[in-house]
Amino acid sequence: MLETNVVGNYIGAPVVTYDYRETLDTSVKVNWKLEDVIGGDKKLDFSKRFMPESLARVEELSFLTEHEKTILNQIKGNTYLTIFGIVEEFIVPFVLDHVRPSLNEDDYRVRALLQFVGEEVKHIQLFKLFCDEFRQNFGSECKVIGPAADIGKAVLAHDPLSVALVILMIEWTSQAHYIDSIKDDNNLDPLFKSLLRNHWMEEAQHAKLDTRMVEHLAEGLTAEQIEKAVDGFFSIGELLDNGLKQQTEFELEAFELATGRTLTENERKVFRERQLQSNRWTFIGTGMVNQKFLQTMDRLGVAQRKRINEAAPIFS
Ligand SMILES: [Fe+2]
Ligand SMILES: [Fe+2]
Repeated sequence: MLETNVVGNYIGAPVVTYDYRETLDTSVKVNWKLEDVIGGDKKLDFSKRFMPESLARVEELSFLTEHEKTILNQIKGNTYLTIFGIVEEFIVPFVLDHVRPSLNEDDYRVRALLQFVGEEVKHIQLFKLFCDEFRQNFGSECKVIGPAADIGKAVLAHDPLSVALVILMIEWTSQAHYIDSIKDDNNLDPLFKSLLRNHWMEEAQHAKLDTRMVEHLAEGLTAEQIEKAVDGFFSIGELLDNGLKQQTEFELEAFELATGRTLTENERKVFRERQLQSNRWTFIGTGMVNQKFLQTMDRLGVAQRKRINEAAPIFS
């Protein structure tokens, strides 16, 4: 049951269908090489912040010095790329499984989806190279949740439509972050910013292909089946949210280790509360209010879109 005509009154936008051939052409045009982005004399500048404040939210911790805020911001930069890497590790097998049963149907579709997979593998490699450089030069350990294979296994155990919805939300998230918060922020480290710009360029095509994957998987399903798939979407969301709680603890640990400062119990409480919300907004909340994502939810039924709207404030 795919609602092609009924789009919520609050959006009013027509349904957009993305074309496989056009998406493939664009991805070939914008494609970049790893060495264009990182390595050689392209080094991180640890005197600068990596993440935009709207995502890192370090200014909310008024008990930190300017230098300590910069350190925490860089820890969040490491979290950001590592978690994107973890997500991309389950996107790769998911898209391969999606395309495999229909290799002979539409050559442009197959090529566009395989190009998508190749780009994600390259992004995983890019994020690993970033993490290596971060580890060598940051000065102390920053733990990150994982291993990626275990998280991926738990996510992929869900209904394919549930997984596709999570992937769609995350791909639109990377678009929104770059356009709304990173592109015009001239205070960020140029290398980190360029990394996100290059990632954004290729992700733009992924979000379109994900929209098609969701449409494909939802085709012919009953309202009950779709409701169940959205239940699965929330269940994956809960899994990710638990990961973010753990990640916030790791960030507190990494912050104290890097700065040598022991926060008071009250400061730790504020740190945990504010930084968990920062992580929730970064990895879940941004996507839940994204209009493109919500347009797809609308096509799955206005009731499903409403469930997303109702849950979104928890992650704001
Ligand atoms: Fe990516
Ligand atoms: Fe992607």
